[in-house]
Amino acid sequence: MKIIRKVSDIIKFREQELKNLSIGFVPTMGALHTGHISLVEKSVRENNYTIVSIFVNPKQFNDKNDFINYPVTIEKDLEMLEKSKCNLVFIPDSEDIYNNYTGFRMDFDGLDKLYEGEFRPGHFQGVVDIVYRLFEIVKPHNSYFGEKDFQQLAIIKLMVSKSNLTLNIIPCATVREESGLAMSSRNERLSAEERKNASKIFEVLNSVKNSMKIDDSPEKLINKISEEINLNPFLKTEYVAFCDPTTLKPVFSFSQNSVVRLCVAVWCGKIRLIDNISLEF
Ligand code: PAJ
Repeated sequence: MKIIRKVSDIIKFREQELKNLSIGFVPTMGALHTGHISLVEKSVRENNYTIVSIFVNPKQFNDKNDFINYPVTIEKDLEMLEKSKCNLVFIPDSEDIYNNYTGFRMDFDGLDKLYEGEFRPGHFQGVVDIVYRLFEIVKPHNSYFGEKDFQQLAIIKLMVSKSNLTLNIIPCATVREESGLAMSSRNERLSAEERKNASKIFEVLNSVKNSMKIDDSPEKLINKISEEINLNPFLKTEYVAFCDPTTLKPVFSFSQNSVVRLCVAVWCGKIRLIDNISLEF
């Protein structure tokens, strides 16, 4: 597995050595777990050559402490990537990747103001800035994103549709711990007791999926879900939303043959967790 750190080196390598290969790309911020690796393995299966980037992007952290405390486990990450048959890891530094680059401007069609956007101002602009830059450098044919970050996935799809980039964005299912808790680098910062209690989030989402009916009111369900999650003394919901899976606009009633995404953000102690599931009517 090759490791490249400099932007100019990867541009040259991409142009000279990878010309006739189909390129799969998985952008990450490191601290890798089985969820990330599932994206890498899908890329390895579907492309001739897989590139993974590891870069903790300062621009997308609205909370400075979150950035400072973001786990860095590079040795372990490289070991996991080697095992998953990744071909190349790109590990840029901030100065190099943002050199002469101020970002990608687009109209988010309101997507950046909802849910995560409401509580993390500037976050999605930071994500779009770095992902656009990485796409420009890596020039992948296919890029893999987790449904775990459902709004990010929708925004990256929108970005590609509004840019001159030609690549496919491939959604990948959320990988969960045995307890049902969605895997996340942030789970490592939960105490053992918090981690156990955090599994309640998926338990509640799943029980809604199994018990809800088409004529239920989304508004009433939102209150019920919040109440149920907040009954657990370790958990406090920030938002609960039923939304359209493409536009992410809130859904005010359910209809036959429709698909709706149920998304939540929940504080568990000092750690903010997100999760979502698909509901099919
Ligand atoms: P990061 O949080 O490292 O996640 C990298 C990719 O892994 C994202 O597409 C994310 O949705 C996916 N992922 C994380 N946990 C997952 C899980 N449990 N199951 C499936 N996929 C999962 O998302 C980012 O980094 C950054 O915003 C980035 C896109 C790299 C831009 O900086």
